[in-house]
Amino acid sequence: ENDTLILGIESSCDETAAAVIRNGREVLSNVISSQIELHKLYGGVVPEIASRKHIEKINQVIEEALEEADTTLEEIDAIAVTYGPGLVGALLVGVAEAKAISYAAGKPLVGVHHIEGHVSANYIEHLDLEPPFLCLIVSGGHTHLVIVKDYGEYEIIGRTRDDAAGEAFDKVARAIGLGYPGGPKIDKLAKEGNKEAIAFPRAKIDGAPYDFSFSGVKSAVLNHINSCQMKGEEINRADIAASFQESVVDVLVQKTITAAKNYHINKIAMAGGVASNSALRKGMERACTREGFQLYYPSPIYCTDNGAMIGVAGYYEYKKGTRHGWDLNAVPNLKI
Ligand code: KG4
Ligand code: ZN
Repeated sequence: ENDTLILGIESSCDETAAAVIRNGREVLSNVISSQIELHKLYGGVVPEIASRKHIEKINQVIEEALEEADTTLEEIDAIAVTYGPGLVGALLVGVAEAKAISYAAGKPLVGVHHIEGHVSANYIEHLDLEPPFLCLIVSGGHTHLVIVKDYGEYEIIGRTRDDAAGEAFDKVARAIGLGYPGGPKIDKLAKEGNKEAIAFPRAKIDGAPYDFSFSGVKSAVLNHINSCQMKGEEINRADIAASFQESVVDVLVQKTITAAKNYHINKIAMAGGVASNSALRKGMERACTREGFQLYYPSPIYCTDNGAMIGVAGYYEYKKGTRHGWDLNAVPNLKI
């Protein structure tokens, strides 16, 4: 038999993760050690703490991934690892580990772009999905609209000018006292609120129809809270959550649909932590049904950071012949 097994390793932010992928699309194991509980205490990810925790966990996470997949390093065809973008100390842990394993076991090393990993998460549960398609990437650190022309071949047509979508969710959540990470908490609370209660702005950027900006809506939320406090009024947190979420979802859906129409692409995928937002899924679903577009998104466990998506992206890079040497380094601001 000539199965191809890829070990995927991810440590760019606050999850230490490893997975084994068979033939590019089948997840044999997906082990994630989350640091969320630790960073909650500080209201956000503390880079030094993240690096230290990765060092503590990475060996165990990789061992578990191999064990759950019922395989050994000898049977693995290549080691794929996220080398950017992300927190430099966090990335270094995964990169150093992958290089060591790759050297010791004599297996090829494939560096993977974290965002390419997020996009590739869509291949796991949608065996029919193949490029070309349009992908909206919405995570804690990134908001991009890209055309996936082929495996590993991307054209960025839009990006955020300031905050990432997930970052805006996290900041607004903090402002209304929901804690970190705010995205899932806003998603939940918004279900009890009125999304038309407060008219928050939808940013338009002249001459850049597919670019995003979320700092304006974030400021509008803070102003709303201040003005309530000055008037001595109680803020309605559920209404703020629902109205804020609606303004973000509205912009994400509109720009994605406009891009799909203008580029004549009828397949749309979503990726990244915010792609698990229930209002975004519903809004995009409705718009795609109306326009006759096919919509894809991963299960929540593959939306947030994980090793499986790195293994999948790594598989397609490996098949293309991508190999990295011992000089592979962490690149915190790696471009797609
Ligand atoms: O992709 P991810 O795990 O990390 C990055 O690569 O950045 O995304 C994490 C982000 C956080 O900002 C989190 O608040 C957001 O995704 N998020 C959500 C939801 N679940 C996670 N945002 C809105 N609604 C959700 N249900
Ligand atoms: Zn991510």
